Amino acid sequence: MNFSSLSEIASYIVSDGKGILAADESNPTCTKRFDSIGVESTEDNRRDYRELLFRSEGMKGNIGGVILFDETIRQNAADGTSLVDIITSQGSIPGIKVDKGLQQIGDTEESLTQGLEGLDERLKEYYEIGAKFTKWRAVISIGEGMPSSEAISANMEALAEYAKIVQNNNMVPMVEPEVLMDGNHSIDDCFEATSRCLDTLFACLLDKEVDIKGTILKPNMVTSGSNNSDQANVEEVAQKTIDCLKAYVPDNLPGVTFLSGGQSDIDATAHLDAMNKIGGFNWKLSFSYGRALQQPALKAWMGKKENAILAQQALSHRALMNKLASEGKWDISLEN
Ligand code: 13P
Repeated sequence: MNFSSLSEIASYIVSDGKGILAADESNPTCTKRFDSIGVESTEDNRRDYRELLFRSEGMKGNIGGVILFDETIRQNAADGTSLVDIITSQGSIPGIKVDKGLQQIGDTEESLTQGLEGLDERLKEYYEIGAKFTKWRAVISIGEGMPSSEAISANMEALAEYAKIVQNNNMVPMVEPEVLMDGNHSIDDCFEATSRCLDTLFACLLDKEVDIKGTILKPNMVTSGSNNSDQANVEEVAQKTIDCLKAYVPDNLPGVTFLSGGQSDIDATAHLDAMNKIGGFNWKLSFSYGRALQQPALKAWMGKKENAILAQQALSHRALMNKLASEGKWDISLEN
């Protein structure tokens, strides 16, 4: 795959309903996922699991990009092929998570994502290994006095600074301002917090002269807090998310790829499909799911070689369902 500009890379990733497989769990997060199926989180087990995902038939035509963790982008499959080459041979583009995680802001409950120091050097190495896009995740919480304007400004400024450095290194920055679902807040609280983040983020990107046509936005959907007993329905989530995006996201952004953030696999697909059925926006509205794509595959695998095909079928199915949802062509009856 040859691309002559950042906008071509970004547009390819979300072309024809394709989306992103987020497989960039840090080792501690991967250990949590493996604990849930009783599998030891060794370097080889993490490699075997990711290899089986990337070799799934359903990668082709449905997954335009894969986000990797530092360990994974350097790994070879058991037969010696690099995982990067396996991803590329599936018609998918390798990407890399480049932030260094969260640091608490003073004695508050808020955080600032770290990783700007030494970023330029790290990017040069990832580019050589084959990464064509990158991810940086900022985390924003809703609660008493949160999100604070300070936390929003500091995180959105860091996202814009990161995006500029990435583009200077000829890769597409994926900017991820994640407003967490955790809490008992209402969908309107989420709408307000997400609006403040997106408003500030695009002002910062403009200020740093980041090329929007060569950028991908990875936001949360606008939902009720996960502990709220009054959960907004699919239509409300879809409409409020679109309204929020339309107010702040420039028309020339090629793709919005949502995180799943703890939604069930079916909810994440149903919400995406409902938005694309409503339509009326310029950007592609697609997915960059971690848990919502991988959970059924992880459960099918259980760390056993003999389950590899079942696990691959599970991933292929979710990849296809989400591709259809990105085109507004999904229906619950397709899940059986
Ligand atoms: P989830 O879809 O599991 O939220 O993961 C996506 C991701 O990359 C979070 O940073």
